[in-house]
Amino acid sequence: MTTGEANSVIAIIPAAGTGSRLQAVLNRPKQFAELGGKPILAHTLLKFQHCKVVDGIIIPTIPKHIELIRHEILGPFGLDKVLDVIPGGESRQASVWQGLTNARKYNPEIVAVHDAARPFISPDIIAESVQVARKSGGCLTAVPVNDTVKRVQENQIVDTLDRTELWAAQTPQTFRFPLLVRAFERALSEQFTATDESMLVERLGEPVQVIPGSARNMKITTPEDLKIAEAIMRLVSNS
Ligand code: CTP
Ligand code: MG
Repeated sequence: MTTGEANSVIAIIPAAGTGSRLQAVLNRPKQFAELGGKPILAHTLLKFQHCKVVDGIIIPTIPKHIELIRHEILGPFGLDKVLDVIPGGESRQASVWQGLTNARKYNPEIVAVHDAARPFISPDIIAESVQVARKSGGCLTAVPVNDTVKRVQENQIVDTLDRTELWAAQTPQTFRFPLLVRAFERALSEQFTATDESMLVERLGEPVQVIPGSARNMKITTPEDLKIAEAIMRLVSNS
């Protein structure tokens, strides 16, 4: 990808977490754990590599893993869309901000943020989220909540939320680049931390359109999730 290419789409894949909730069963950050013989990060990156609308990929990670990613993941899996592997930050938000700052030099039109720990995203959903962001500014991938959700304080129900309006946020979360930069700059100046990008854009009062993700697009977080992911992997490779 050349600098300043018009209409370009860059994916930022934050991979600077330590996977603390999986530490009991893994001796390394979860993005390097293997699923079906491939590191989770490789699975995730391959989905973006194979998505035609994505021009380039930026990976914020833990500094000591930069070379490992280059030599053991990018090379062996032919991930030639990866533009930069850079140091992430202390929080997911800080890592994404590093990615956005780095992306400036490519002057992208659209940026799609996707967790390294969600290897089952499909290239079709990525492409749809780019198309929606291009049209409306921002796009969140999410799934309707199946369970009835209660607000609880000190083990007492305070409220039952209206399930028909509740969606669980996934990634990719995709935006016009200047809009997401503006949302992050506002959050930085107000020292506001969120758990996803959409929340920062919502705070600007800008609309974010929602598209359906899938149950399969889970974030591998706990030891139980890793077992579920292994089962999904067997299912995918048998189909
Ligand atoms: N992430 C990141 N930089 C951080 C923290 C998280 O880039 N400082 C990334 C993770 O690598 C992951 C994604 O953000 O791909 C979602 O975060 P999460 O699932 O919370 O991963 P971890 O922070 O690694 O796990 P844990 O919270 O259990 O420590
Ligand atoms: Mg975390």
